[in-house]
Amino acid sequence: MDFKDKKEVQKRIEFLRQELEKHNYRYYVLNDPQISDFEYDGMMSDLASLEKMYPEFASPDSPTVKVGSDIAGKAPGTREFRQYRHRYPMLSLGNTYNIEELQDFDRRAREGAGSSFNYSCELKFDGTAICLTYSKGRLVRALTRGDGTVGDDVTDNVRTISSIPVHIGDVPWDFEIRGEIYMPFASFNALNEERLDIGDQPFANPRNAAAGSLKTLDPKEVHRRGLECVLYHIIGDDLPFKYHSEALEWAAGHNLPVSKYSRLCHDMDEVRAYISEWDTRRKTLPFATDGIVIKVDDLALQTRLGYTAKSPRWATAYKFKPEQALTRLLSIDYQVGRTGAVTPVANLDPVPLSGTTVKRASLHNADQMELLDIRIGDYVYVEKGGEIIPKITGVELSKRPAEAEVPHFPTICPDCGAPLVKDESEARHYCLNEACPTRVKGAFLHFISRKAMNINAGEATIDQLYDKGYIRELPDLYRLNMEQLLTLDGWKEKSAGNFLESVSASVKVPFGRVLFALGIRHIGETTAKTLAARFGNIEAMEKASREEFLEIEDIGEVIADSLVEYFGNEGHRRIIQELRDFGLQFADNSAASRLSDRLSGCTVVVSGNFTRPRDEMKALIAAHGGKNTGSVSGKTTYLLAGEKAGPEKLAKAEKLGVKVITEEEFYSIINS
Ligand code: IVH
Repeated sequence: MDFKDKKEVQKRIEFLRQELEKHNYRYYVLNDPQISDFEYDGMMSDLASLEKMYPEFASPDSPTVKVGSDIAGKAPGTREFRQYRHRYPMLSLGNTYNIEELQDFDRRAREGAGSSFNYSCELKFDGTAICLTYSKGRLVRALTRGDGTVGDDVTDNVRTISSIPVHIGDVPWDFEIRGEIYMPFASFNALNEERLDIGDQPFANPRNAAAGSLKTLDPKEVHRRGLECVLYHIIGDDLPFKYHSEALEWAAGHNLPVSKYSRLCHDMDEVRAYISEWDTRRKTLPFATDGIVIKVDDLALQTRLGYTAKSPRWATAYKFKPEQALTRLLSIDYQVGRTGAVTPVANLDPVPLSGTTVKRASLHNADQMELLDIRIGDYVYVEKGGEIIPKITGVELSKRPAEAEVPHFPTICPDCGAPLVKDESEARHYCLNEACPTRVKGAFLHFISRKAMNINAGEATIDQLYDKGYIRELPDLYRLNMEQLLTLDGWKEKSAGNFLESVSASVKVPFGRVLFALGIRHIGETTAKTLAARFGNIEAMEKASREEFLEIEDIGEVIADSLVEYFGNEGHRRIIQELRDFGLQFADNSAASRLSDRLSGCTVVVSGNFTRPRDEMKALIAAHGGKNTGSVSGKTTYLLAGEKAGPEKLAKAEKLGVKVITEEEFYSIINS
């Protein structure tokens, strides 16, 4: 090979490394991948072959050698978790999409073994890896994989996952057990519906949703999202097991969530049978899987086979190719949602895919359309990944008809004609016209929903009321009367009476839910409750500055900006006043349960563990008139430091001369 060729090889290697690094970041840190696993694995395997053929270009920093990192602090706007070094490195798995390569894996394992052995075949769960440490039978720490060497400490969040026991009885030895945190389809769909409802970008698939949720700030929110866990690997020094399957059985006997779908296989015929069985059966599972993991069962043999820099030689993954169909893109609809977000939806020539006929697929946003370079009339690949809504993953350029047309993302709202505005941070287009019919109806639907004002009505009623011109702004609901309702098709005195009663009853709904019902962008149920408890009433929120919102733990820039923008709008303030005149709750009555003013004017930061839950400590601060904030600053009065308080917070308090108090000192202040 001449020099020029080698230069090209080097360029290609560098290109692949850069691309893979970029996709690692999108996948592991942002939880927002741009390409499918299949494409990613293809690039990785190309890079590995080139590095093997040209060892002179090998590098210890190559993505073929390094494990992709999920460390959260690297993502804009995410919290930095405390990090700990893994006792044993947390590696990845080799993978293949074809049976021949699996035979190669088996051949190498047999060469290393010398005598016969079994494989443990397991499902490959599509979630995010977790490492749990149990000491004397108690869960003491949960770390993400991180970069394989150091992981994020997500113990508080993991403790909220119901299937993970915090105590498993008296076990005299310490061990680590690793597995996957995943989000079942049902929870995933519910979460995405809710995110769309509050104007947040939905998660692309259950894996991203699980990984993103595990890194949220609020353990209660993590609990609410319905994560599950499955554990598949025990490690420790001098553990009393000879076989992997034996270790997992022991774990199952101690209430640790272990998969019931694993099987011991005695030879490759049995392994192949397991694969073909699960290639079909996995479609009936309520959670996402992306392949099969094959592990040498004998632990002594595992040790003999050992590890490469990135993965074990005693295990590998056989991944399922995503099912794809090729069909024609007929047209694109642009749908306006409740929050004004405009989503492009592809209309397809109907095509069968994994048991259903696909007619429509999401195109996500304008950037995605551009990335795919999609044209109307193109033949496109549709895939159902973990997600239920199919997506377009590629265009078959060789089949592009001459007359294929470049689609133009609308510049005006398809419903009301107002100009669309692109939100760069979310890559979505929004209709900002609050009088846009779709937005108005959406706002009412959200307002009346069960978790908001819980008014007994649905979409059909809102449509009827809107079409008659009876409702345009939220307070209009409280102006409705019997006479008007009886003009609606199919309404009788009884149904109208029930409806009016339900509207009247809604004035009792507590402040936190009213705040959620207002439909402020990015304010979900939990955030609304936090704000209600923290501010106590709406006037305080109307007056609050961006900085004051930002001081609250769990409130980031996106939410703070949204609140400032909402309350800065005179129309919104008028609507709030009118709703208030109708008797809706705009103050938190629990504020009446104020215990004392001993912390009045004090700002307290809470860090570490206490004899009671941290939330209770925060509630006590509020009950005694204090303000709780998330980070130590010049304005902080006390840093209330419990066991294992954050070292950064302690250092900052010392630097700024902020008084650090213990739990006992805190009680003596509030009880003095
Ligand atoms: S065993 C030393 N078993 O897939 C590696 N991993 O793509 C031990 N995964 O990093 C891993 N299901 O996060 C193992 N039954 C299973 C698995 C599994 C899912 C994940 C795991 C791994 C990744 C590799």
